[in-house]
Amino acid sequence: MDGSTMTDLDLTLSLLRQLRPSDVETTMLPAACYTSDAFFEWERREVLARQWHCVGRAEEIPETGDCLGTEIAGEPVVVARGRDGQIRALSRVCQHRGQVIPCAPKQSCKGFICPLHQWSYGLDGQLVGAPRMGDRNVVLLLRESVRLPSLPIMLWHGFIFVSLDTNVPPPALEKVEPFWDGYDEPHMKAVPPVVSDQTLPWNWKTHVENFTDAYHPEFVHRGTHDFAPSVLGDGGVRFTEMAPGDAAILRSVPLLAPDGGMMRDGWGPEAMFPAIPTLSDWQRGHLTFVMIPPSMTLIFAPGVIAYALIRPTGAATTLAANDRVTGGGWILPKTTLSLPDFAERAAQVREGGAKIWAQDVPVNLAMQAGKSSRFLPAGIYGPLERTLQQFNQWLLQAYHKALGISLGGDGCRPVEAASSPAPGTRLARL
Ligand code: FES
Ligand SMILES: [Fe+2]
Repeated sequence: MDGSTMTDLDLTLSLLRQLRPSDVETTMLPAACYTSDAFFEWERREVLARQWHCVGRAEEIPETGDCLGTEIAGEPVVVARGRDGQIRALSRVCQHRGQVIPCAPKQSCKGFICPLHQWSYGLDGQLVGAPRMGDRNVVLLLRESVRLPSLPIMLWHGFIFVSLDTNVPPPALEKVEPFWDGYDEPHMKAVPPVVSDQTLPWNWKTHVENFTDAYHPEFVHRGTHDFAPSVLGDGGVRFTEMAPGDAAILRSVPLLAPDGGMMRDGWGPEAMFPAIPTLSDWQRGHLTFVMIPPSMTLIFAPGVIAYALIRPTGAATTLAANDRVTGGGWILPKTTLSLPDFAERAAQVREGGAKIWAQDVPVNLAMQAGKSSRFLPAGIYGPLERTLQQFNQWLLQAYHKALGISLGGDGCRPVEAASSPAPGTRLARL
């Protein structure tokens, strides 16, 4: 410090600087990481803006001019399919004087027009028109030099990821690949989640911690999750190793009978989305929960890949869209989608998901509230909370990177060999 008073943000960043990877195996991150507006602004600028964010699926914008309007780390962004068939991500900040160009979550258009002075841009972001700026030569010169800033995109199994930062390498998602085996992707189709404008009153980390926590379902989700237990003799939840740089955190839990799935009352034996016959026996007997922080979660189930989109919006506000919160968020075989009673089946899945969600809402509220308590503990992690420790590692790496600290000697502790698949083992052989 240069003699000025240390702010709460300085204090939090100082605490983060001192934390070693081994520390967050045994304790939670500072509470301010979940509650402080100043910390959220820092996290948004220095961490979230340097991540890849899933914004939807390529099949949502199949035609020229189809667009997805969204925000990434507070930046207005549009993803559009151009005349050449390419998907591009563009900033929606007009390059005249900076007005944000509106775009619905999903729309179709020929280009983008800024409402303020009607400057217009093509689907590739190039300036097309600038009324009353001068003669033709002036406009031609502008057209040569002005375009909406284009952003890097990445496609992963049909999901569109966008980053605000051109220097960020693609996320390391290799450990998720085996879980795609057996899903006949060319013959599957997404039912995208309904986009919400209603924020949830908790930090995005509180949200995904609930998703990834294998410890709480037995207690919080009684009656809805018993069919997919974390504890089952010697064959309950299994975790995977988390190496520095991994962008996915995952766990698998067994089903009490193969081919189960979501029903009206939660997970159960009579899945509303029928099991996919090309999956391995192991896949037909398990659910795998994957989080790709900060923007998405996935559940690989015998009949469906269910996904959620998450958008951090404030210290204690988060947008989330999936079957539990707003509806949809499924990748399904086309044969399932064409079942004559699909609408009824989907309604039952939503009902089951809503019952699980109703159990999660009070605990998320209470976890967020606890972060503001003077009696908040440092935290203690048990054997079922490995993914929480792994998320801490992911966060600490991201925070340290933003603070210019390179990973030290005591990096991520690998999980016990007994709970992780042998390297290179594909699921079909598990
Ligand atoms: S700020 Fe967009 S046209 Fe003027
Ligand atoms: Fe939960």
